Amino acid sequence: MTIKIAFTGAGYIAHIHAQAAQNQPNVELVAVVEKFSDKSNAFSEKFGVKCCYTSVDELLAEGGVDALVICTPNFLHAPQTIAALNAGVHVMVEKPMAMDAAEAERMCAAAESSGAVLMVAHCWRFDEDVLWLKGQAPKLGKIIRTKGYGVHTHWGPAGWFTQKELAGGGAMADMGIHALDTARFLLGDPQPVSVYAKIGTYYKDFDVDDTGVILVNWDNGATSYIESGWWQPHSDGPEAATQLYGTQGFGQLFPTKLELPNIQEGKLDIIDSGLPFPRPEHCPQSMYDAQMAYFIECIHSGQKPFPGGMEGWINTKVVDAAYESAATGNVVEIN
Ligand SMILES: NC(=O)c1ccc[n+]([C@@H]2O[C@H](COP(=O)([O-])OP(=O)(O)OC[C@H]3O[C@@H](n4cnc5c(N)ncnc54)[C@H](O)[C@@H]3O)[C@@H](O)[C@H]2O)c1
Repeated sequence: MTIKIAFTGAGYIAHIHAQAAQNQPNVELVAVVEKFSDKSNAFSEKFGVKCCYTSVDELLAEGGVDALVICTPNFLHAPQTIAALNAGVHVMVEKPMAMDAAEAERMCAAAESSGAVLMVAHCWRFDEDVLWLKGQAPKLGKIIRTKGYGVHTHWGPAGWFTQKELAGGGAMADMGIHALDTARFLLGDPQPVSVYAKIGTYYKDFDVDDTGVILVNWDNGATSYIESGWWQPHSDGPEAATQLYGTQGFGQLFPTKLELPNIQEGKLDIIDSGLPFPRPEHCPQSMYDAQMAYFIECIHSGQKPFPGGMEGWINTKVVDAAYESAATGNVVEIN
Protein backbone atom coordinates (compact mmCIF):
# COMPACT_ATOMS: atom_id res chain seq x y z
CA MET A 1 0.00 0.00 0.00
CA THR A 2 1.29 3.46 -0.88
CA ILE A 3 1.52 5.84 2.09
CA LYS A 4 0.40 9.37 1.31
CA ILE A 5 2.58 11.69 3.38
CA ALA A 6 2.40 15.41 4.16
CA PHE A 7 4.79 17.83 5.87
CA THR A 8 4.15 20.83 8.05
CA GLY A 9 6.76 23.60 8.23
CA ALA A 10 8.73 23.76 4.96
CA GLY A 11 12.00 24.85 6.57
CA TYR A 12 15.43 23.29 7.03
CA ILE A 13 14.54 19.88 8.45
CA ALA A 14 11.40 19.39 6.33
CA HIS A 15 13.56 19.30 3.19
CA ILE A 16 15.66 16.52 4.71
CA HIS A 17 12.58 14.52 5.76
CA ALA A 18 10.97 15.03 2.35
CA GLN A 19 14.16 13.75 0.69
CA ALA A 20 14.04 10.77 3.05
CA ALA A 21 10.39 10.13 2.10
CA GLN A 22 11.26 10.33 -1.61
CA ASN A 23 13.99 7.76 -1.00
CA GLN A 24 11.41 5.20 0.23
CA PRO A 25 9.44 2.85 -1.99
CA ASN A 26 5.64 3.23 -2.00
CA VAL A 27 5.56 6.66 -0.35
CA GLU A 28 3.83 9.54 -2.13
CA LEU A 29 4.52 13.14 -1.07
CA VAL A 30 1.09 14.74 -1.33
CA ALA A 31 0.94 18.00 0.65
CA VAL A 32 2.76 20.70 2.55
CA VAL A 33 1.46 23.03 5.25
CA GLU A 34 3.51 26.23 5.52
CA LYS A 35 2.84 29.74 6.75
CA PHE A 36 4.82 31.48 3.98
CA SER A 37 3.94 30.92 0.30
CA ASP A 38 7.50 31.39 -0.98
CA LYS A 39 8.61 28.49 1.21
CA SER A 40 5.70 26.21 0.31
CA ASN A 41 6.18 27.01 -3.40
CA ALA A 42 9.88 26.15 -3.25
CA PHE A 43 9.11 22.96 -1.33
CA SER A 44 6.30 21.83 -3.63
CA GLU A 45 8.41 22.50 -6.73
CA LYS A 46 11.42 20.62 -5.36
CA PHE A 47 9.46 17.57 -4.23
CA GLY A 48 6.58 17.58 -6.72
CA VAL A 49 3.98 18.15 -4.00
CA LYS A 50 0.64 19.26 -5.46
CA CYS A 51 -1.28 20.58 -2.42
CA CYS A 52 -0.18 23.55 -0.32
CA TYR A 53 -2.06 24.64 2.80
CA THR A 54 -1.47 27.25 5.46
CA SER A 55 -2.95 25.28 8.36
CA VAL A 56 -3.05 21.65 9.47
CA ASP A 57 -6.83 22.00 9.96
CA GLU A 58 -7.23 22.74 6.23
CA LEU A 59 -5.08 19.73 5.36
CA LEU A 60 -7.09 17.43 7.63
CA ALA A 61 -10.42 18.79 6.37
CA GLU A 62 -9.35 18.03 2.79
CA GLY A 63 -8.31 14.47 3.74
CA GLY A 64 -6.37 12.04 1.57
CA VAL A 65 -3.33 11.94 3.86
CA ASP A 66 -2.09 8.91 5.82
CA ALA A 67 0.85 10.48 7.64
CA LEU A 68 2.13 13.89 8.70
CA VAL A 69 5.73 14.87 9.47
CA ILE A 70 5.77 17.85 11.85
CA CYS A 71 8.70 20.20 11.22
CA THR A 72 7.33 23.46 12.60
CA PRO A 73 8.60 25.61 15.50
CA ASN A 74 8.24 23.79 18.82
CA PHE A 75 5.11 25.63 20.04
CA LEU A 76 3.15 24.09 17.15
CA HIS A 77 4.22 20.48 17.77
CA ALA A 78 1.52 19.62 20.34
CA PRO A 79 -1.52 21.23 18.67
CA GLN A 80 -0.60 19.95 15.20
CA THR A 81 0.20 16.44 16.49
CA ILE A 82 -3.01 16.17 18.50
CA ALA A 83 -5.14 17.43 15.60
CA ALA A 84 -3.58 14.94 13.20
CA LEU A 85 -3.82 11.99 15.60
CA ASN A 86 -7.47 12.79 16.36
CA ALA A 87 -8.10 12.65 12.61
CA GLY A 88 -6.47 9.19 12.49
CA VAL A 89 -3.35 10.48 10.71
CA HIS A 90 -0.01 8.93 11.74
CA VAL A 91 2.56 11.46 13.02
CA MET A 92 6.30 11.78 13.15
CA VAL A 93 7.07 14.93 15.15
CA GLU A 94 10.43 16.64 15.42
CA LYS A 95 12.34 16.96 18.69
CA PRO A 96 11.73 18.38 21.22
CA MET A 97 8.29 16.79 20.83
CA ALA A 98 6.69 19.55 22.91
CA MET A 99 7.25 22.78 24.82
CA ASP A 100 7.14 20.82 28.09
CA ALA A 101 6.25 17.44 29.59
CA ALA A 102 2.59 18.42 30.19
CA GLU A 103 2.10 18.92 26.44
CA ALA A 104 3.99 15.70 25.69
CA GLU A 105 1.65 13.80 28.02
CA ARG A 106 -1.40 15.12 26.13
CA MET A 107 0.18 14.07 22.81
CA CYS A 108 0.75 10.54 24.16
CA ALA A 109 -2.87 10.40 25.36
CA ALA A 110 -4.08 11.44 21.89
CA ALA A 111 -1.98 8.66 20.32
CA GLU A 112 -3.44 6.11 22.76
CA SER A 113 -7.03 7.10 22.07
CA SER A 114 -6.63 7.42 18.28
CA GLY A 115 -4.59 4.26 17.72
CA ALA A 116 -2.55 6.15 15.09
CA VAL A 117 1.24 5.93 15.16
CA LEU A 118 3.12 8.64 17.09
CA MET A 119 6.87 8.66 16.51
CA VAL A 120 9.33 11.27 17.81
CA ALA A 121 12.23 12.09 15.50
CA HIS A 122 15.10 11.32 17.88
CA CYS A 123 17.22 10.77 14.82
CA TRP A 124 20.50 9.65 16.44
CA ARG A 125 18.88 6.30 17.26
CA PHE A 126 19.09 5.60 13.52
CA ASP A 127 22.71 6.63 13.04
CA GLU A 128 25.22 4.00 11.92
CA ASP A 129 27.89 4.97 14.46
CA VAL A 130 25.41 5.14 17.36
CA LEU A 131 23.97 1.75 16.41
CA TRP A 132 27.47 0.24 16.19
CA LEU A 133 28.32 1.54 19.68
CA LYS A 134 25.03 0.29 21.09
CA GLY A 135 25.71 -3.17 19.64
CA GLN A 136 29.19 -3.22 21.19
CA ALA A 137 28.20 -1.72 24.56
CA PRO A 138 27.77 -5.09 26.35
CA LYS A 139 31.56 -5.56 26.01
CA LEU A 140 32.02 -2.58 28.36
CA GLY A 141 30.50 -4.39 31.35
CA LYS A 142 28.24 -2.24 33.47
CA ILE A 143 28.16 1.32 32.19
CA ILE A 144 28.73 3.58 35.18
CA ARG A 145 28.57 6.94 33.47
CA THR A 146 28.20 8.63 30.11
CA LYS A 147 29.65 11.95 28.97
CA GLY A 148 28.15 13.73 26.01
CA TYR A 149 27.26 17.00 24.44
CA GLY A 150 25.14 18.70 21.84
CA VAL A 151 26.88 21.93 21.00
CA HIS A 152 27.24 24.50 18.20
CA THR A 153 30.61 26.25 18.23
CA HIS A 154 30.86 29.86 17.01
CA TRP A 155 27.27 29.91 15.83
CA GLY A 156 23.73 29.40 16.97
CA PRO A 157 20.25 29.57 15.48
CA ALA A 158 18.25 32.79 15.23
CA GLY A 159 14.55 33.65 14.92
CA TRP A 160 11.96 31.51 16.70
CA PHE A 161 14.64 29.19 18.18
CA THR A 162 15.72 32.05 20.46
CA GLN A 163 12.23 33.04 21.69
CA LYS A 164 11.01 31.18 24.77
CA GLU A 165 7.32 31.47 23.87
CA LEU A 166 7.93 29.82 20.48
CA ALA A 167 10.72 27.35 21.34
CA GLY A 168 10.08 26.46 24.99
CA GLY A 169 13.81 26.43 25.72
CA GLY A 170 17.15 27.19 24.13
CA ALA A 171 20.26 25.09 23.54
CA MET A 172 19.23 22.53 26.16
CA ALA A 173 15.88 21.86 24.45
CA ASP A 174 17.43 22.09 20.98
CA MET A 175 20.88 20.44 21.21
CA GLY A 176 21.15 19.00 24.72
CA ILE A 177 18.12 16.81 24.04
CA HIS A 178 20.04 15.00 21.25
CA ALA A 179 22.85 14.14 23.68
CA LEU A 180 20.31 13.22 26.36
CA ASP A 181 18.40 10.87 24.09
CA THR A 182 21.60 9.31 22.73
CA ALA A 183 22.90 8.65 26.26
CA ARG A 184 19.58 7.10 27.28
CA PHE A 185 19.45 4.95 24.13
CA LEU A 186 23.02 3.69 24.63
CA LEU A 187 22.24 2.89 28.28
CA GLY A 188 19.25 0.76 27.24
CA ASP A 189 16.52 3.34 27.99
CA PRO A 190 16.61 3.49 31.79
CA GLN A 191 14.18 5.78 33.62
CA PRO A 192 15.48 9.15 34.86
CA VAL A 193 15.46 9.49 38.66
CA SER A 194 16.87 12.97 39.30
CA VAL A 195 18.54 15.90 37.57
CA TYR A 196 20.94 18.63 38.63
CA ALA A 197 21.69 21.42 36.15
CA LYS A 198 23.44 24.73 35.66
CA ILE A 199 21.96 26.52 32.67
CA GLY A 200 22.32 30.12 31.54
CA THR A 201 22.63 32.68 28.76
CA TYR A 202 26.08 34.18 28.27
CA TYR A 203 26.79 34.70 24.58
CA LYS A 204 23.75 36.51 23.16
CA ASP A 205 20.84 38.66 24.27
CA PHE A 206 17.77 36.40 24.15
CA ASP A 207 15.39 34.87 26.68
CA VAL A 208 16.48 31.24 26.20
CA ASP A 209 19.66 29.47 27.31
CA ASP A 210 22.85 29.15 25.28
CA THR A 211 24.93 27.16 27.80
CA GLY A 212 24.13 24.18 29.99
CA VAL A 213 25.61 21.38 32.03
CA ILE A 214 23.30 18.70 33.39
CA LEU A 215 23.72 15.55 35.47
CA VAL A 216 21.05 12.87 35.13
CA ASN A 217 20.81 9.92 37.53
CA TRP A 218 19.15 6.86 35.98
CA ASP A 219 17.32 4.02 37.70
CA ASN A 220 19.99 1.50 36.59
CA GLY A 221 22.57 3.36 38.70
CA ALA A 222 24.29 5.11 35.78
CA THR A 223 24.87 8.87 35.63
CA SER A 224 24.95 11.00 32.49
CA TYR A 225 26.91 14.22 32.21
CA ILE A 226 25.57 16.30 29.33
CA GLU A 227 26.64 19.66 27.91
CA SER A 228 24.42 21.79 25.70
CA GLY A 229 25.29 24.98 23.90
CA TRP A 230 25.10 27.47 21.08
CA TRP A 231 27.90 29.94 20.29
CA GLN A 232 30.35 27.90 22.34
CA PRO A 233 34.07 28.72 22.07
CA HIS A 234 35.01 25.02 21.91
CA SER A 235 33.62 21.52 21.67
CA ASP A 236 35.47 18.24 22.20
CA GLY A 237 34.47 16.98 18.75
CA PRO A 238 31.80 17.40 16.10
CA GLU A 239 28.42 18.92 17.14
CA ALA A 240 27.10 15.95 19.15
CA ALA A 241 28.83 12.93 20.64
CA THR A 242 28.68 10.56 23.61
CA GLN A 243 31.21 8.49 25.55
CA LEU A 244 30.51 5.42 27.68
CA TYR A 245 32.56 4.53 30.78
CA GLY A 246 32.02 0.89 31.79
CA THR A 247 33.49 -1.49 34.33
CA GLN A 248 35.26 -3.36 31.50
CA GLY A 249 36.23 -0.50 29.21
CA PHE A 250 35.48 2.71 27.37
CA GLY A 251 33.43 3.41 24.24
CA GLN A 252 32.95 6.53 22.19
CA LEU A 253 31.42 8.08 19.09
CA PHE A 254 33.25 10.05 16.38
CA PRO A 255 35.76 8.43 15.99
CA THR A 256 33.69 5.42 16.98
CA LYS A 257 35.54 2.70 18.86
CA LEU A 258 35.99 0.76 22.08
CA GLU A 259 39.07 0.70 24.31
CA LEU A 260 39.25 -2.44 26.43
CA PRO A 261 42.07 -2.82 28.97
CA ASN A 262 43.78 -6.18 28.50
CA ILE A 263 45.23 -6.70 31.98
CA GLN A 264 46.84 -10.09 31.19
CA GLU A 265 48.86 -8.71 28.29
CA GLY A 266 49.30 -5.26 29.85
CA LYS A 267 47.87 -3.40 26.86
CA LEU A 268 44.79 -1.65 25.58
CA ASP A 269 42.74 -3.54 22.98
CA ILE A 270 41.14 -1.17 20.50
CA ILE A 271 38.03 -2.31 18.64
CA ASP A 272 37.63 0.15 15.79
CA SER A 273 34.20 0.49 14.17
CA GLY A 274 35.86 1.03 10.79
CA LEU A 275 33.30 3.76 10.14
CA PRO A 276 34.69 6.87 8.42
CA PHE A 277 35.90 9.76 10.58
CA PRO A 278 35.73 12.66 10.02
CA ARG A 279 32.36 12.11 8.45
CA PRO A 280 31.55 13.88 5.20
CA GLU A 281 28.43 15.24 6.95
CA HIS A 282 27.85 15.12 10.70
CA CYS A 283 24.09 14.62 10.22
CA PRO A 284 23.98 12.36 7.14
CA GLN A 285 20.91 11.92 4.96
CA SER A 286 21.25 8.15 5.55
CA MET A 287 20.30 8.66 9.23
CA TYR A 288 17.08 10.45 8.26
CA ASP A 289 16.38 7.86 5.54
CA ALA A 290 16.61 5.05 8.11
CA GLN A 291 14.36 7.01 10.48
CA MET A 292 11.73 7.55 7.75
CA ALA A 293 11.92 3.88 6.68
CA TYR A 294 11.17 2.88 10.28
CA PHE A 295 8.23 5.31 10.52
CA ILE A 296 6.73 3.82 7.35
CA GLU A 297 7.37 0.30 8.65
CA CYS A 298 5.49 1.13 11.88
CA ILE A 299 2.55 2.47 9.88
CA HIS A 300 2.39 -0.75 7.85
CA SER A 301 2.84 -3.11 10.79
CA GLY A 302 0.83 -1.14 13.36
CA GLN A 303 3.67 -1.55 15.88
CA LYS A 304 4.30 1.18 18.46
CA PRO A 305 7.42 3.06 17.36
CA PHE A 306 10.50 3.22 19.50
CA PRO A 307 11.28 6.13 19.86
CA GLY A 308 7.59 6.84 20.29
CA GLY A 309 5.68 9.37 22.33
CA MET A 310 6.91 7.83 25.58
CA GLU A 311 10.60 8.33 24.73
CA GLY A 312 9.93 11.92 23.68
CA TRP A 313 7.89 12.53 26.84
CA ILE A 314 10.65 11.19 29.10
CA ASN A 315 13.14 13.50 27.40
CA THR A 316 10.86 16.50 27.97
CA LYS A 317 10.57 15.52 31.66
CA VAL A 318 14.35 15.61 31.96
CA VAL A 319 14.55 18.95 30.15
CA ASP A 320 11.83 20.43 32.41
CA ALA A 321 13.67 19.10 35.48
CA ALA A 322 16.95 20.57 34.22
CA TYR A 323 15.40 24.03 33.84
CA GLU A 324 13.79 23.74 37.29
CA SER A 325 17.09 22.65 38.84
CA ALA A 326 18.94 25.53 37.19
CA ALA A 327 16.31 27.99 38.48
CA THR A 328 16.21 26.66 42.06
CA GLY A 329 19.74 25.31 42.53
CA ASN A 330 18.23 22.03 43.77
CA VAL A 331 18.40 18.46 42.58
CA VAL A 332 15.01 17.77 40.99
CA GLU A 333 13.43 14.32 41.39
CA ILE A 334 11.51 12.88 38.41
CA ASN A 335 8.46 10.68 38.94
N1 LIG B 1 16.55 16.21 14.15
C1 LIG B 1 17.28 17.13 13.61
O1 LIG B 1 18.37 16.86 13.14
C2 LIG B 1 16.76 18.53 13.54
C3 LIG B 1 17.48 19.51 12.85
C4 LIG B 1 16.93 20.78 12.75
C5 LIG B 1 15.71 21.07 13.33
N2 LIG B 1 15.05 20.11 14.02
C6 LIG B 1 13.75 20.40 14.65
O2 LIG B 1 12.80 20.59 13.59
C7 LIG B 1 11.89 21.64 13.88
C8 LIG B 1 11.98 22.71 12.80
O3 LIG B 1 13.30 23.21 12.75
P1 LIG B 1 13.90 23.88 11.41
O4 LIG B 1 15.36 24.05 11.65
O5 LIG B 1 13.46 23.15 10.22
O6 LIG B 1 13.18 25.29 11.51
P2 LIG B 1 12.86 26.30 10.31
O7 LIG B 1 12.65 27.62 10.95
O8 LIG B 1 13.89 26.16 9.24
O9 LIG B 1 11.49 25.74 9.72
C9 LIG B 1 10.25 25.90 10.37
C10 LIG B 1 9.20 26.20 9.31
O10 LIG B 1 7.91 26.25 9.91
C11 LIG B 1 7.20 27.31 9.27
N3 LIG B 1 6.07 27.74 10.09
C12 LIG B 1 6.04 28.65 11.10
N4 LIG B 1 4.78 28.77 11.59
C13 LIG B 1 4.02 27.92 10.86
C14 LIG B 1 2.63 27.57 10.90
N5 LIG B 1 1.79 28.15 11.77
N6 LIG B 1 2.20 26.64 10.04
C15 LIG B 1 3.02 26.04 9.17
N7 LIG B 1 4.35 26.34 9.07
C16 LIG B 1 4.83 27.26 9.93
C17 LIG B 1 8.24 28.39 9.08
O11 LIG B 1 7.85 29.36 8.14
C18 LIG B 1 9.43 27.54 8.62
O12 LIG B 1 9.42 27.37 7.22
C19 LIG B 1 12.27 22.13 15.27
O13 LIG B 1 11.47 21.49 16.23
C20 LIG B 1 13.73 21.69 15.45
O14 LIG B 1 14.08 21.45 16.79
C21 LIG B 1 15.55 18.84 14.12
